[in-house]
Amino acid sequence: MSKLISAVGLTLDTAYQNISDQEMSQLIEMAITKGAFQKRDSLFAGKNINQSENRAALHPALRNVSGDAMLVDGVDVMPLVKGVWQRIEGFCNQLIGITDVICLGIGGSDWGPRLVCDALHQINPQDGKAIRLHFVANVDSAELATALSKAQPRSTRVIITSKTFTTLETIRNAQTVINWLKANQVSASQVKKCLIGVTANPTAAEEFGIAPENIYPFWDWVGGRFSVWSAVGFPIAIKYGFKTFKEFLSGAHAMDQHFVSAPAAENMPLILALTLIHNQQKHQITAKAIVPYAHALRFLPEWLQQLEMESHGKSVTNDGSSCDPTSPVVFGSAGSNSQHSYFQMLHQGNQIIPVDFIAIKEPMSDLPEAKEHHQSLIANCLAQAQALANGSKEEFAYDSCPGGRPSNLIWVDRLDAYHLGALLALYEHRALCLGAIWNLNSFDQPGVELGKKLAKPIQSALKGDNPTLDGIDSITASRIKWLNT
Ligand code: F6P
Repeated sequence: MSKLISAVGLTLDTAYQNISDQEMSQLIEMAITKGAFQKRDSLFAGKNINQSENRAALHPALRNVSGDAMLVDGVDVMPLVKGVWQRIEGFCNQLIGITDVICLGIGGSDWGPRLVCDALHQINPQDGKAIRLHFVANVDSAELATALSKAQPRSTRVIITSKTFTTLETIRNAQTVINWLKANQVSASQVKKCLIGVTANPTAAEEFGIAPENIYPFWDWVGGRFSVWSAVGFPIAIKYGFKTFKEFLSGAHAMDQHFVSAPAAENMPLILALTLIHNQQKHQITAKAIVPYAHALRFLPEWLQQLEMESHGKSVTNDGSSCDPTSPVVFGSAGSNSQHSYFQMLHQGNQIIPVDFIAIKEPMSDLPEAKEHHQSLIANCLAQAQALANGSKEEFAYDSCPGGRPSNLIWVDRLDAYHLGALLALYEHRALCLGAIWNLNSFDQPGVELGKKLAKPIQSALKGDNPTLDGIDSITASRIKWLNT
């Protein structure tokens, strides 16, 4: 079986996984038996695969540049999708006089556009319009204050992105931005004009004060962490043009077509998922590193952390039984920087932590020395994979590297919007395959609710509105008292 799979300008090289043909055949059979392809077909058919929330997960419709019908509950959603494309394109054609766009959102309403806009900027800092984008996610006012210090209030637009339009961080930040605009002599009617809402809850957006004509919808069948392809990706279109946004969608659509049509042994998302399952079965791994050897992909590990750990950081299956193992801890950062921090552990630590190396074939800047830089970068990437796999035997045990540490290498022909779209879609579909194998709902995140609920009485107590500290346990209560002394 080939250790190389190429599709949509990406090549997955699994040679250092040390998986025999027989082992891979067994893994494929297991995945098919567990319904990986059934789940894929249900995804594309718009079936209710998000069972706990009784919804479809049809993010491929958002990048269906073919325009062919895609159905949810028997209704073609493409007219809705195309309608939003037209509005975004129209907005992008009338950007005169805007200097700054403040992009408020968190989690899936932030990571996707933040990653893509940063990547396109790193690829070519001269690219894109002269508009400054400021992404703000944290409710820590420090992040917002930094953004506001760089923006000109009278020529700013504010995109408030929230699927639910109830998320504490985003709503708090939005209120503060509105105060900042007003404090800077922007009239109430002008404030209303400059606020844009991107949401699946237009009623809440309107109640918040967004003009209906400034609301760009997406829909409950779009999972937050799968939403960059929707109007959530608006900042990409604003900064880099609608054409570039469409290229991003096209790359993802091409990966969709590959996922739907490639036979199992040549199906990149499936094989990528199966390398992880193999590492769990053979090495009992509990962590996994994502190391892009490209500064432009420095936010990819964070985006993937949400995709992987919010989707599969779970231990109860769809039918209520327990499941172990599920998602490993996902972490990572750009190479070669990462070699100078946690790579020591990857080479000699007690645990085996498999790595996905991602490398770009072409140099990443137009500096005269870019070729030499790129050779150093690629040499290091290839050397790390080799060292992990083969190890070394030295005179002293503490100098030796045990080897036998698996990794994937994903080559990207060229880093641009199209290939970025393909890469993100590859990981989305890998997640779908893993969810099927583990029998987990990849599209809900009930575990994040408890902490949000507990924060409410604590916040009241911090304000002085909950003097008896109701709903707060004794340890937290003593922390609040300490803070207030
Ligand atoms: O708290 C988790 C979460 O619900 C994520 O799943 C989501 O991406 C993020 O919060 C933001 O949610 P929203 O888009 O509704 O503001």
